[in-house]
Parts: sequence; C-alpha cells; structure tokens
Amino acid sequence: MPASKWKKLTREQQAAYRWGLIVAVIGAGLLLLPGRESWHAAGPPNIGHSKIECGECHVPAPGNFAGQAFENIMHAVGLSDSETHFIYQPAGNEQCLRCHEDPDNRHPVEDFLEPEFATARQAIGVQYCVSCHQEHLGVRVSATQGFCRHCHEDTEVSDDPLDVPHSILIADERWGTCLGCHDFHGNHERKVPELMSLVLTEEQIQQYFDGGESPYGHRRLTVIQTMRRSSRSREKPVADPP
Ligand code: HEC
Ligand code: HEC
Ligand code: HEC
Ligand code: HEC
Ligand code: HEC
Repeated sequence: MPASKWKKLTREQQAAYRWGLIVAVIGAGLLLLPGRESWHAAGPPNIGHSKIECGECHVPAPGNFAGQAFENIMHAVGLSDSETHFIYQPAGNEQCLRCHEDPDNRHPVEDFLEPEFATARQAIGVQYCVSCHQEHLGVRVSATQGFCRHCHEDTEVSDDPLDVPHSILIADERWGTCLGCHDFHGNHERKVPELMSLVLTEEQIQQYFDGGESPYGHRRLTVIQTMRRSSRSREKPVADPP
C-alpha cells in the first residue's frame, strides 16, 4: 500500500491492518511447522472409508487452540522442548481397531511390541496399522510387498506340502511369492494353494493394494459392515488338486 494511502487511514483502520498482518504471519508460520505440510490437502480417503466421518479417526487433542498454538510456537522458535499435538491427536491403532477388531488376525499388531520384533518395528513400523495402511492416499495397502522377510527368515514348515518347499523359497529370498499364496491377516475364506503355478503375480497383488478387487476371493471371515463373525476353522486348509 502506498504511504499516502496509509496515512489517510484512521488509527483504527491502521491497527486493523497491523493485526491482520500479524495473524496472517502466525497462521502461515503454523502451517509451515515441520510435519504440517499436508494440512493443506488431506488427500483421498482409503478404500472403504469414503463414508466415514473425519471425527471417527481425528480425535481432538487435549487443551485449547491457544494453548496448543503457544506451545508449538515456543517449540518452533526453540524456547521449549515439548511439542503438543495440534488440534487433533495422531490417528492410529486405537481408532482402527474400534471398527476393525479381528480376533482371528494371524498378525495382530499388539503382538509385535515384543522384544523379538525390534528389527521389524524399526524397519517397517509393524506395530502400527497406519505403517502399512497410510490414510489419504486413496489406496487399500500402502506397504511395499516382500516385508515378510523381516520376520520369516527362520520359518520352517513341517511336512511342507509345496512343490517348491518354503525352505527353498526362503533361502532364495523369494519374498515376492509369499502374498501370492497367503493373505496377511488371514481374513479371507480360501484354500491356500500348494503349487507354484498357482501363485498370484506381484502385479495382481499390487492392483489389490492399490484398491482393485481382492484376488483372494470376496468371502471374509470377519465382516465389518454388520460386525457379523463366523466361527473360524483353525484346521489347516487342504488345497484342491490343480
Ligand atoms: C480411517 C481414519 C481416518 C479418517 C476417516 C480420516 N483421516 Fe485424516 N488422517 C488419518 C491418519 C492415520 C493420518 C496420519 C497420516 C497418514 O497416515 O496418512 C491422517 C492425516 C490427516 C491430515 C494431515 C495431518 C498431519 O498432521 O499430517 C489431515 C489434514 C487430515 N487427515 C484430514 C482429514 C479430513 C478432513 C478427514 C475427513 C474428510 C479425514 N482426515 C478423515 C486417518 C483418517
Ligand atoms: C468408523 C469405523 C472405521 C474406522 C475408525 C476405520 N475403518 Fe477401515 N473401514 C471401515 C469400513 C466400514 C470399511 C469398508 C468395509 C470393509 O471393506 O470392511 C473399511 C475398509 C477398510 C479397508 C479396506 C478393506 C477392504 O478389503 O476393502 C482397510 C485396509 C481399512 N479399512 C483399514 C483401516 C485402518 C488402518 C484404520 C485406522 C487408521 C481404519 N480402517 C479405521 C470402517 C472403519
Ligand atoms: C505389516 C503390514 C500391515 C499392518 C501392520 C497391518 N496391515 Fe492390514 N493389510 C496388510 C496387507 C499386506 C493386506 C492385504 C492382504 C490381506 O488382505 O490380508 C492388508 C489388508 C487389510 C484389510 C483388508 C482385508 C481384511 O483383513 O479384511 C483390512 C481391513 C486391514 N488390513 C486392516 C488393518 C488394521 C485395522 C491394522 C491394524 C490393527 C492393520 N491392517 C495392520 C498389511 C498390514
Ligand atoms: C513382524 C513380524 C511378522 C511379519 C512382518 C510377517 N509375519 Fe507372518 N507371522 C509372524 C508370527 C510371529 C507368526 C506366528 C508364529 C509363526 O507361525 O511363525 C506368523 C505366522 C504366519 C503364518 C501362519 C499363520 C497360521 O495361523 O498358521 C503365515 C502363513 C504367515 N505368517 C505369513 C506371512 C506373510 C505372507 C507375511 C508377509 C506378507 C508375513 N507373514 C509377515 C510374524 C510376522
Ligand atoms: C505356493 C503357495 C505358497 C507360497 C508361495 C508360500 N506359502 Fe506358506 N504355506 C503354503 C501352504 C499350502 C502352507 C500349509 C498350510 C497352511 O498352513 O496354510 C503354508 C504354510 C506356511 C506357514 C505356516 C507354518 C506352520 O507350520 O504353521 C507360514 C508361516 C508360511 N507358510 C509362510 C510363508 C512365507 C513367509 C512365504 C514366502 C517366502 C510363503 N509362506 C510362501 C503355501 C505357500
């Protein structure tokens, strides 16, 4: 604004402009704090989540807006060590499990807090749902295939029914084949194949990760819409002859 115009403004108008500027700077500062980039756009929801309210996952953080803002600004300028959660707490297991509880999950996240899984926690954050299912990317699974390697290097299958036994698949590090026969949570009602000729390709699995139809079939043991649960057979499935 040219100085001549500025001088024509009343004191109140000048004050209003000054405050406007201060608020804009603080606002921009908050948005530019590390980790807040994505506030500008949340991105498309995950497969199945288009009708879910934001508040189902984003729970307000304790404290009020001013207190959180003050704390975060002090942190950003180096006057305080602590950073509080701003407006919303991070969404995670607690929210996911309220809707997705699966008592027969073969890989429950809470098991992976044990010391033996320290390497897997460090490598892929296996104790958190959102490590593999990042929200707002518009996909079903955001993880990269082959992560079985972090825990199944020592797996031995007794009376192995496969035409190429697990011991060989593992020794040859063919980690891209595992999801070709096994789903991860064990929630699909299906027979696990025994022949390498029946293994799903990594492309087929990726299109499922990206949001396509399930290559493991459509019947799931724990169904969320109705919370209906079928009692699950713990017996080992017998594969059909080819
Ligand atoms: C199913 C749970 C879920 C729902 C529903 C959901 N979000 Fe999120 N949101 C998350 C998770 C988890 C993250 C953390 C980053 C990630 O994993 O993508 C996140 C991150 C964000 C972020 C980035 C914040 C940051 O600090 O990085 C914004 C903004 C956001 N969500 C807005 C929304 C809005 C708006 C809606 C409703 C249209 C919504 N979310 C619905 C789970 C959800
Ligand atoms: C308010 C309930 C609710 C919450 C909270 C919720 N979901 Fe969902 N989710 C659903 C519904 C409903 C569907 C669609 C029905 C289905 O596919 O099971 C779904 C679908 C999914 C799917 C795709 C299932 C498929 O094969 O089509 C994944 C993966 C998923 N949710 C993961 C998560 C994760 C991870 C979180 C936590 C960040 C979460 N959900 C939080 C209700 C919820
Ligand atoms: C280490 C990675 C990983 C973690 C951690 C993980 N998932 Fe998954 N999830 C997958 C993969 C891979 C698939 C696709 C294969 C399948 O369908 O089992 C999947 C599929 C799903 C599906 C669709 C199939 C089904 O089981 O109904 C849902 C829903 C789901 N995950 C929810 C969750 C929730 C909730 C959590 C946390 C309690 C979680 N996942 C933790 C990797 C993971
Ligand atoms: C964080 C560690 C971890 C990761 C990652 C992991 N698993 Fe497992 N898995 C386990 C543990 C622990 C068990 C139960 C003990 C066992 O059978 O070894 C198990 C069991 C299994 C079982 C047998 C389940 C049953 O009920 O008999 C299969 C099949 C399996 N995992 C496949 C996979 C596949 C495929 C992947 C990759 C997509 C994978 N796992 C990734 C830790 C893991
Ligand atoms: C050609 C299909 C096929 C491939 C590929 C495959 N498996 Fe299996 N797997 C099976 C069958 C069949 C069984 C025995 C029946 C069952 O437990 O589901 C089995 C059993 C298992 C078990 C349970 C062992 C037990 O004694 O409880 C684990 C763990 C396992 N596989 C992990 C893996 C991992 C990790 C990979 C990738 C290196 C892999 N599988 C690749 C078909 C396959």
